[in-house]
Formats: sequence, structure tokens, C-alpha cells
Amino acid sequence: MIVVRTVADLRAALYPRRTGAVGLVPTMGALHEGHATLLRAARAADDTVVMSLFVNPAQFNEQADLAAYPRTEEADLALAASEGVDIVFAPEAAEMYPAGFATTVSVSGTLADTLEGAERGRSHFDGVATVVTKLLLAALPDHAYFGAKDAQQVAVIRRFVTDLGIPVELVVCPTSRDADGLARSSRNTRLSPDERAQALAIPRALSGIQDAATAGLRDTAALRAQGLAHLEAAGIHPEYVALVDPVTFAPVDEVAQPVLVAIAARVGATRLIDNIVLGGA
Ligand code: PAF
Repeated sequence: MIVVRTVADLRAALYPRRTGAVGLVPTMGALHEGHATLLRAARAADDTVVMSLFVNPAQFNEQADLAAYPRTEEADLALAASEGVDIVFAPEAAEMYPAGFATTVSVSGTLADTLEGAERGRSHFDGVATVVTKLLLAALPDHAYFGAKDAQQVAVIRRFVTDLGIPVELVVCPTSRDADGLARSSRNTRLSPDERAQALAIPRALSGIQDAATAGLRDTAALRAQGLAHLEAAGIHPEYVALVDPVTFAPVDEVAQPVLVAIAARVGATRLIDNIVLGGA
């Protein structure tokens, strides 16, 4: 495994490998089992696996969140090596945002304005879209891997990849969960044992909604109310519980086609998100 810090070095390392398929797993480091799942999917499908490791300042709306974001490069490189990554691209901020940087990739409309876009501010998805565009252009992968936990991020990326005609296939891997059901996140390490126990109300609220939908409840307002009640009973006052179209993120009234159920909530000081798809594959 080699570690490169510049786009030029990444391209030079990839040049002789272009005869085979290239997979890119974009990360912000602080790797956990969820990232390992993405790396394994890439390793199984691609001849060359590139992992990017860049804590992207442009997508953090809170300076405190950026400052608190775990930076664990040594452990991340060890995990990447153990998962068979070929090339790690770990640039400094100045490599990604050189002096005079003045371009933003911005997806407009409901998709990027609602839920995470509303809670974290418009600049969040602009920051994600801009950096992911740059990473895709730097590596020009055949496949790029993302986790389903960040459902809105995936939908935003899918939108601009389609709109800009970026020649990459997006591979979305199922949300990786701990044995107790909590979705894996780099932020989980910040939860105290009590907070972690409380946070379990989030996946449980989602499975309650799933069960009710499976039992025939189709009205999304009623499903939402049920999830909300579950969370409130556990002392969690969510930022949102939303039932939306998984592609456009427009609200839906009835479960007649696949519906994304998304929750965001703070548990203590830690912001967590999770989701499931009802009626999906
Ligand atoms: O999901 C993430 O970790 C980040 O948003 C990504 C896709 C690496 C862009 O910085």
C-alpha cells in the first residue's frame, strides 16, 4: 500500500493500473467497521482500491464539530492496509483547496435543502458535492463506494454525478450496525455508556416503523407519529423524523412505493443519523 498526498502523485500511481477497474472509497478517516465494509466491497470488485482520507473543512457547519472530529491517521492506514487497499490519497487542505479556490458544486432544490440541508445549512452539501467531485476527478474511478447511512448524501452525489455526466458507477453499501443495532459512526465514540443505551431508541424507532408498515399501516403521518413517540419516550427529541422519496427527498403521504424513513437526533452532545427504506428491495 502506498500513501500519496498530491493529485499528481495519485494520477501517477494509477496510470499503470488503468488497464483494470479502479474503486474509490472516499472517507474522512476515523475508520470503523462501516468503512471496512466499503473497502471489502471495493476489494472484491475492483483491481485497484483507492481510499481517500481527507477531513473536508468545507462540509462542517460547526467549527466545534470540525475541531472535535477524530483524526487517527496511523490507525486508519493500518486498517486500510489490512483490508488490502492499494493506494491511500491523504491530501492536505491546500492540495484540495489551493489559493484562490472559488468554485462550488451545488445541487439545488428540495434534495439538498431539506433535512440535513436544513439542519446543517446549505453549505454542508455544497461542501460534500465539491469535495466528492474533486476526488472523483482526481482518481477517475470506475466505482465509488458510499454507505447507505448517509442516504441524503448518496442522493445528492447521485444527482450531480448524473447532471455533470461524471463517468463513475456509485455503489451503495448497506448501513453497518453494531450487534445492538446502533448504526456505526465515527461519532459513536463520543457517546457515554448511558447515552449509547439511549441512542438505541433510534434504530428501535425505525424497526417499529418498519414493523407497522409491514403490518399494513401505510399513512406516513401515522408512521411518523409512532416513531416520534418511541423516541420521545426514550427522552430523545429528534431534529427530524421524516418519510420521503429516497431519490428526490420530497415528502410522501402514503407507503405506495419505496419510502425512506430518516431520523436525526442529538444524544447528549452527539448528533446521530440513521434511516431505513420501507417497501424497498
Ligand atoms: O461520508 C463521508 O465521510 C464524507 O462526506 C465524504 C463522502 C468522504 C466527503 O468528504
